[in-house]
Amino acid sequence: CRAVHSVTGFCSCRSFAYLTIKDRLPQILTKAIDTLHRHKSEFFEKHGEKGMEAEKKAISLLSKLRNESQTDKPIIPFVEKFADTDIWNQYLEYQQSLLNDTDEKPRWFYSPWLFVECYAYRRIHEAVIQSPPIDDFDVFKEAKEQNFFESLESITALCIHLQELMTTIEDLEENQLKNEFFKLLQISLWGNKCDLSLSGGETSSQKTNIINTLEDLKPFILVNDMEHLWSLLSNCKKTREKVSVTRVDIVLDNSGFELVTDLVLADFLLFSNLATEIHFYGKMIPWFVSDTTIHDFNWVIEQVKHCDHKWVSKCGVDWENYVKMGKWVYHDHIFWTGPHEFCAMFHVAPDLYAELQKAHLILFKGDLNYRKLTGDRKWEFTVPFHRALNGFHPAPLCSIRTLKAEIQVGLRPGQGEQLTASEPNWLTTGKYGIFQFDGPL
Ligand code: F6P
Ligand code: MG
Repeated sequence: CRAVHSVTGFCSCRSFAYLTIKDRLPQILTKAIDTLHRHKSEFFEKHGEKGMEAEKKAISLLSKLRNESQTDKPIIPFVEKFADTDIWNQYLEYQQSLLNDTDEKPRWFYSPWLFVECYAYRRIHEAVIQSPPIDDFDVFKEAKEQNFFESLESITALCIHLQELMTTIEDLEENQLKNEFFKLLQISLWGNKCDLSLSGGETSSQKTNIINTLEDLKPFILVNDMEHLWSLLSNCKKTREKVSVTRVDIVLDNSGFELVTDLVLADFLLFSNLATEIHFYGKMIPWFVSDTTIHDFNWVIEQVKHCDHKWVSKCGVDWENYVKMGKWVYHDHIFWTGPHEFCAMFHVAPDLYAELQKAHLILFKGDLNYRKLTGDRKWEFTVPFHRALNGFHPAPLCSIRTLKAEIQVGLRPGQGEQLTASEPNWLTTGKYGIFQFDGPL
């Protein structure tokens, strides 16, 4: 019970959680229905009448889901067999067991937000897999691609910046290299503003050249542990033997512009020799609208490769080669789209935990990862990050996140209260960001 009472958001009060389930989720579901509808003729061309029937079925399942959530129905178990069905249904039983009154069922507006929101995306996936032959359709693909194309100017500027940096890297002094590292970290941080779940699936792209805005955005970084990341990786570089490895793992968040910023950072880590191997983790199913799947990962690299500008295209070619050579490794794991907070990983997905333990540094991108790192609990603002991780310490790690949920730890005394007094919504607008590190110093 303690876990439930200490979670940040219940959907029943006038919280950000409440607004998510009341307003944003129906909007996201309506958009998904609309997307399926607009692809009707494509389904027909591909699969004939069966495709049309499948489209109708998926739409009716999503409409049912929208109705269940809007009318606060009980949360029902999953029926379609998939890799994680049992894990999810066991978790549902656990939620049920937390309700003292045995007749009561967990419901949409009376359950912890993290659980309900993850459940909603898993149900969207169930609606699609229950509708063969269109069961591999990604209802969010179009929105992710639109985000990429709308950010193209900024992506071009960023790729050119990276290629210029590559040509001068040998001449850079230690301090200059550090500054370049910090710049790319900040670009990756602010790239996290471009998620499509906060905007209810509406476009949220990067239209201006982000490199020029970094100085102005610095005051909005509330926790800044970039120096720790530099010390860790530059020490690894100095002490590394010729044959040994420095491995950085990146737990990806959104596709489109944010993914490009992560790939640019990953490329820099390799050619600056701060790392020798990068491992990426994406989602196995469409998730929180814009999260990266393997399809998105490959699609973005392919798009960059085919850009008209030769330096942008060079980035795409290099990235494809890193994958071929095994310097970039992409991992899938069903745990990332489950209901569990990360402190449960050791028991629920020990293989994934063991994989993360091989990293010298793990970067967790985005807001949802932060909520899962900290268990989405109602922590005091000043609670140390290490404590909020609740035993999750596979390797030194850093959260790179813009704030889009009512949770933040590791602040200075009074810092959170001061922000609340001057800007009541500071936790949820994405205006503020953090680099929050946990590991030996
Ligand atoms: O829908 C709310 C939410 O979970 C917020 O926490 C956040 O705005 C968004 O979804 C996901 O953000 P991110 O893509 O940064 O994980
Ligand atoms: Mg996301």
